[in-house]
Amino acid sequence: MNLNGKTILITGGASGIGLEAAKQFLEIGAKVIITGRNQQKLDAAKKNGPSLIAIKSDVENQDDALSLFNQVSSLGGIDILYNNAGVGSPALNLGTANDQILEYAIYEMNVNYFGVIRLNNLFMDMLKSRKESAIINTTSILSLVPALEEPTYSATKVALSFYTRLLRKNLEILDSTVKVFELLPPVVATEMTAKRKDKKMTTEQLVKTLISGISRDQFSIRVGDTKLLYIMSRFFPELAFNLVNPKKIHASLL
Ligand SMILES: NC(=O)c1ccc[n+]([C@@H]2O[C@H](COP(=O)([O-])OP(=O)(O)OC[C@H]3O[C@@H](n4cnc5c(N)ncnc54)[C@H](OP(=O)(O)O)[C@@H]3O)[C@@H](O)[C@H]2O)c1
Repeated sequence: MNLNGKTILITGGASGIGLEAAKQFLEIGAKVIITGRNQQKLDAAKKNGPSLIAIKSDVENQDDALSLFNQVSSLGGIDILYNNAGVGSPALNLGTANDQILEYAIYEMNVNYFGVIRLNNLFMDMLKSRKESAIINTTSILSLVPALEEPTYSATKVALSFYTRLLRKNLEILDSTVKVFELLPPVVATEMTAKRKDKKMTTEQLVKTLISGISRDQFSIRVGDTKLLYIMSRFFPELAFNLVNPKKIHASLL
């Protein structure tokens, strides 16, 4: 897919992976619209990239989504919808009765899964009407192997991964030209992983790989450690599970 001259909407584009993606998409000649819930973060992003269009919008909220759709339509529409916004919650042991488990699970599902479906539904006809268009959904290395410390988050990403694969197939059945990409990042250095001590990829490296994947129509973009874990999870599932969940983390869940 040729990205030059395309208009891309990046949800959660005011920080982390989304902000780096906004920067790199601008550099290659795309027009970029970013969203987020925090106006200050959006203003700061715009200050560093004045050509960005920043719109305050929460993917959990249907009214916000409708308003976003109307604003984007009046700006001429988009060619690419990049569903990047995502949230994770603090680690909890699912085997301990705790109301927060349900609270966190609903929040994560609303943002990471239903938020994506909400925007895809709204923008689908617009994307279908474009000459060359795409949807990018951000799942995770944890959609291949779940993490004990991020159980309900892992579940949102596997739900999104199945949805993404089926969305691609459904569009094919309809003979649509809308391309559906799945980005599967490894652990990346952002606010979301600030407390983790593992090896982390930079946002810059991740987004370079994303852009290269999209340019080559590589629909499943597995980055860094995700590539190896993909193979391992297919042939040695227990080994892959233990690699993601080493014994030392059990203590944190007691
Ligand atoms: N970092 C990693 O290691 C990693 C690995 C695999 C997958 N991912 C996925 O990559 C994506 C980006 O994550 P990140 O690491 O860049 O995290 P991040 O630094 O925490 O950024 C997440 C962005 O999403 C926005 N956001 C959150 N909830 C939103 C909502 N309801 N509506 C609109 N925007 C919302 C946040 O902005 P506001 O708070 O201002 O709304 C923020 O800009 C997520 O989907 C994440 O699950 C990350």
